[in-house]
Amino acid sequence: MTIDNTEGARAQIGVTGLAVMGSNIARNFARHGHTVALHNRSIAKTHALIEEHGSEGDFVRTETIEEFVGALQKPRRVLIMVKAGDPTDAVIEELAAAMEPGDIIIDGGNALYTDTIRREASLRERGLHFVGAGISGGEEGALNGPSIMPGGPKESYAALGPLLESIAAQVDGTPCCTHIGPDGSGHFVKMVHNGIEYADMQLIGEAYNLLGSALGYDAGKIADVFTDWNGGDLESYLVEITAEVLRQKDAKTGKPLVDVIVDAAEQKGTGRWTVKSALDLGVPVTGIAEAVFARALSGSREQRKAAVGLASGVLADKPTDAAQFTEDIRQALYASKVVAYAQGFDQIAAGSAEYDWDLHPADLATIWRGGCIIRARFLNRIKDAYDENPKLPSLILAPYFRDAIETAIDSWRRVVSTATLLGIPVPAFASSLSYYDALRAERLPAALTQGQRDFFGAHTYERVDAEGKFHTLWSGDRSEVQA
Ligand code: 6PG
Repeated sequence: MTIDNTEGARAQIGVTGLAVMGSNIARNFARHGHTVALHNRSIAKTHALIEEHGSEGDFVRTETIEEFVGALQKPRRVLIMVKAGDPTDAVIEELAAAMEPGDIIIDGGNALYTDTIRREASLRERGLHFVGAGISGGEEGALNGPSIMPGGPKESYAALGPLLESIAAQVDGTPCCTHIGPDGSGHFVKMVHNGIEYADMQLIGEAYNLLGSALGYDAGKIADVFTDWNGGDLESYLVEITAEVLRQKDAKTGKPLVDVIVDAAEQKGTGRWTVKSALDLGVPVTGIAEAVFARALSGSREQRKAAVGLASGVLADKPTDAAQFTEDIRQALYASKVVAYAQGFDQIAAGSAEYDWDLHPADLATIWRGGCIIRARFLNRIKDAYDENPKLPSLILAPYFRDAIETAIDSWRRVVSTATLLGIPVPAFASSLSYYDALRAERLPAALTQGQRDFFGAHTYERVDAEGKFHTLWSGDRSEVQA
């Protein structure tokens, strides 16, 4: 464990930004036999990492950016783990000034993919490779095996891939890391991963609320239900930790911790970005959007306080067959989850086409099977579906998921209708069911929308029985003309 750099450029990777995520990923590299150069704006964090974990591998402590870059073997590879936005731009500029053509800068933060596209183009002009890498799995994943989604130039993956794959989570001997595609594609798919994460968490929250409000289950009983569900098709990290969170007792009051947490969800922004991007791409990510808006609504405390006491209009008695309704909720959760993931993968396909990235959905399902927050047994089925047909019009149409929804549909309808009659909010369950019904509908009310648009804006419409665009002379004799 040589700490201070007395032997010149010998580090295979450098990590700058040593908050918990950065420190953990540096430790992960060191534990896998790589010599890791360390840098942090304040050297105190560098000292702390070495004092606490220096025995875990070969670290090179550096103080300045020049020392840091000078400690790296060529082609130099630097992983930035600082706050997205201006702090990242500042570090990139400092590094670029000290690095040489052929060197690689990796941004491991949750950067907005359009920033990554800009940065990659700008650094490419200076001969530097810029890789925007989504890293999922939180602090534990960073230390013990995240899912890593590196974008950027294919040629830099030759020098970078083996390093990243060595520290990624492994499933069936396959690293949860692969080259995603050019420029901002890595951060784009990480953003959509987070959007799916939001939807998954919202759906779990709605299931939790139904079990409590419709069946009167307490947190401990609901934890048992989630533990049971985690033994089947819903097996996933999020379902697993839900049971953990619900079992946790509050030391101060002895109550379930969840009962003393303020019910206002926060969000750092990746879910919002996903919805904004989907709006621009024209992809209906209704499950993700409902999750983002549900967090916003939960946080509008003054408005909610004023709304307490509004008429509930409850029109039904609570379910009497708790076992059946619990199973109905499980089925509805699974079906709604299929819709959320289908929409997320639709957005990935749309982004791939828009930015000419040639993304492979099966590869994403493969590297999301482990390490990331949405890791789940379910992703094996998604991988199978896209292996079978990479051009699936929708994940919902894959035979496995088509059958799963056919099995779940009655329960799904019972849960959404019961919740509605009982006045229990299920925005993601309900919107997912309506999305499914709209997707499979032979005719939609959009025909009327087109008629209205033509009436007030002469925006024209198409006919089911003729080619071309048409307009009705609404303010004249109401005859129809070909536009
Ligand atoms: C991950 C997580 C992570 C996420 C934070 C905060 O993949 O490890 O998605 O990147 O950003 O957990 O998320 P929100 O504040 O947006 O809920």
